[in-house]
Amino acid sequence: MRVILFTGKGGVGKTSVAAATAVRCARAGYRTVVMSTDPAHSLGDSFDIELGSDMTTIEDNLWAHEVSSLHEMQRHWEKLHEYATEVFAAQGLDEVIADEVANPPGMDEIASLMWIKHYAQRDDHDVLIVDCAPTGETLQLLTFPDAAKWWLDKIYPWERRAMRVARPVLQPMMGIPLPSDEVYASLKDLLLDLGGMRNVLTDPKTTSVRIVLNLEKMVVKEAKRAFSYLSLFGYATDAVIVNRILPDELHDELFRKWQRIHKRYEVEVEQSFAGIPILNVPLFDREVVGVKMLERMAKETYGDQDPALRFTTASPQRIDKEGTDYVLSLKVPFVDRSAVDLSRHNGELYVTVGNYRREISLPRVLAKRDTAGATIKDGELRVRFTRAPVAKRQ
Ligand SMILES: Nc1ncnc2c1ncn2[C@@H]1O[C@H](COP(=O)(O)OP(=O)(O)OP(=O)(O)O)[C@@H](O)[C@H]1O
Ligand SMILES: [Mg+2]
Repeated sequence: MRVILFTGKGGVGKTSVAAATAVRCARAGYRTVVMSTDPAHSLGDSFDIELGSDMTTIEDNLWAHEVSSLHEMQRHWEKLHEYATEVFAAQGLDEVIADEVANPPGMDEIASLMWIKHYAQRDDHDVLIVDCAPTGETLQLLTFPDAAKWWLDKIYPWERRAMRVARPVLQPMMGIPLPSDEVYASLKDLLLDLGGMRNVLTDPKTTSVRIVLNLEKMVVKEAKRAFSYLSLFGYATDAVIVNRILPDELHDELFRKWQRIHKRYEVEVEQSFAGIPILNVPLFDREVVGVKMLERMAKETYGDQDPALRFTTASPQRIDKEGTDYVLSLKVPFVDRSAVDLSRHNGELYVTVGNYRREISLPRVLAKRDTAGATIKDGELRVRFTRAPVAKRQ
């Protein structure tokens, strides 16, 4: 199955382009599902159809739904939620409020991302199109499986063991319920599910991200930031979609001014995303609503190309042999050396860029070597691993 995620700053046209891509895929003969992970669902508005959490048929080969939550997710989450409610209630919170507080924001979005794994496993569709929430939230979400893996490997076994021993002693002293084995088991299932989802999302043969943007300063800036972080976490971006391009033949002074602004950012986008195909979409003379308009948008976006193709196969992460050394290359566009921090521990390489930290499990061939320096060049972080032991480990 092919998975294509659409992300970008609020209001740039993500939902429209996602829906347009879905229409085009279905008409090309792919069994296509389009779903939105944005809790402010507007996919239905785009198709001009009432959508809900049940799958709705839009036309031949095309199904859509606005997801709320997933049964298996709910099952794991229920135990954790019950436990969290108990903890808050034990601290004197009203039970109804405790129940609310125990349901952290973001849970719905995580549940909806879980659908991606669900569809990939069932494999009874050819293409899954995902209309994501605006960039910031989506990035947070996409880093979640990485954090989950860390929890599962590092904290979970230790804490569970400690809790088994300490529970009988601590429970009466603390006055709050301590997590039972059942709660831990649910947590483990949830974390494993997230890990499975990560495998689907970071396989560039299956999943691509397409960044939608408009030619304006703040939008372009956010798109570049998103590209850095997506690359850092190993998600492959295969196209940048520039939406709402003004036609050349404008005579109105106001529009001409806007056109000049757009031209400036057009150059910046070309330079910044070099190597990633850029697809241009004009500003239409009406809203993009209904299948007919979506088909028109798809035609403008993809021309005669198959929208389910991978537009670039460049992978965000690579390992090359150079002489007797190995070099791990990681795309981190728009980041300078001073913004990156590297450390190693127990076969893991930790890369920190801004607020995000990525843990890369090194393959055996690299894990047993020493790190001999890192450079950033052309938007790529290159970490060299050498066989000769160096005096001081990084
Ligand atoms: N190229 C275009 N020409 C004309 N109207 C457009 C174009 N692209 C999008 N629109 C319109 O702009 C509005 C916002 O688009 P859309 O909902 O797709 O953006 P979004 O990025 O999904 O927004 P949000 O961040 O709120 O989810 C819609 O009314 C849509 O019909
Ligand atoms: Mg939207």
